[in-house]
Amino acid sequence: RSLRVAVIPGDGIGQEVMPEGLACLRAAAERYNIDLELDEQFKDWATCERYLETGSMLPEGWKEKLSTYDAIYFGAVGMPEKVPDHISLWGSLIQFRREFDQYISLRPCKLMPGIPCPLSNKKIGDIDFWVVRENTEGEYSSIGGKMFPNTSREFVVQDTIMTRTGVDRVLKYAFELSNSRPKKHLTSATKSNGISISMPYWDERVLEMSKSYQDVKVDKYHIDILTAWFVLRPELFDVVVGSNLFGDILSDLGPACTGSIGIAPSGNINPEGDWPSLFEPVHGSAPDIAGKGIANPVGMIWAGQMMLEHFGFKDAADTMMRSIEIALESGGENIRTPDIGGKGTCQSLGSHIASLISKI
Ligand code: NAI
Ligand code: MG
Repeated sequence: RSLRVAVIPGDGIGQEVMPEGLACLRAAAERYNIDLELDEQFKDWATCERYLETGSMLPEGWKEKLSTYDAIYFGAVGMPEKVPDHISLWGSLIQFRREFDQYISLRPCKLMPGIPCPLSNKKIGDIDFWVVRENTEGEYSSIGGKMFPNTSREFVVQDTIMTRTGVDRVLKYAFELSNSRPKKHLTSATKSNGISISMPYWDERVLEMSKSYQDVKVDKYHIDILTAWFVLRPELFDVVVGSNLFGDILSDLGPACTGSIGIAPSGNINPEGDWPSLFEPVHGSAPDIAGKGIANPVGMIWAGQMMLEHFGFKDAADTMMRSIEIALESGGENIRTPDIGGKGTCQSLGSHIASLISKI
């Protein structure tokens, strides 16, 4: 099978980590005979340079052009000193998420060797779960408003929208993912004791969907205690699904509990494949270290690994994952980047991982 990918490195260290991500993907594609097209014609798309020159982050017709790809492999955007962040993000990444109906945000929470875990007494294997976040509706609607501004009667209201289609499709994805894993365990984030209309509805849809997945064990926690369990007993979890707001919180908290937020990847997924899905590192453009060649490429490489896994290239994805783990565990001081205690460079770590992918 083939995979066509639009490569968009973006700003700052996005441009530095991208070549390492591509080298690793090429190594995997070569070893496993994947017909992988990595189209690099988008080097100046979604960059603040472009915005400063033309007044927009993306050229006209971007949607038609990108629509023909299976996936977008995305670095990072942002040049906060010259372009406000809401312009760079809304002009690129957020356009992609919305226009391409990437209604799943997916993040791994996995303890990695060589990365100190901030929680005590956790060993490799104890933390290994996914957070699935609804990415298009819920609490982040723009319906509402302010009334009687600047008077004593002033108030604001903002609605939560949960459509049956919107809730069911994220739940279906989460149940499918749970079903594909050995533990087959799904945890739902709720708050139906406090939010008395939308959250009971969410719970109701979970219950309904669970009838189609008899093998999946389902439980639910209110978001407040759930955040506590993430920190205290992360080994409880396998797949965790949440609404847009709860999922947003959990998808930062989960990787933070593994110490890996700096190297973590993220998928913005349109599961049906009607539109391209987007895979990116969680980090931003890191202006403070951009241009120094010391950015850690693992987030970018891991995002590529997620992309191969998503499209069903399991052997290649497994080898990429193992290569990342071996590099983090045993890559010496001259290979590791400074953020993980080394003296190496983006390139030393990236090419080390690429060579492991070819030979392990
Ligand atoms: P950031 O993630 O760019 O940097 C936060 C801190 O982590 C910095 O000290 C940076 O040096 C360090 N860091 C980040 N990635 C690293 C890596 N791969 N290796 C080593 N160190 C790394 O977040 P910040 O500073 O809040 O935002 C900078 C710019 O990035 C802003 O314009 C922001 O809007 C944008 N941004 C873009 C995102 C995206 O494109 N998805 C996500 C987050 C921020
Ligand atoms: Mg967030």
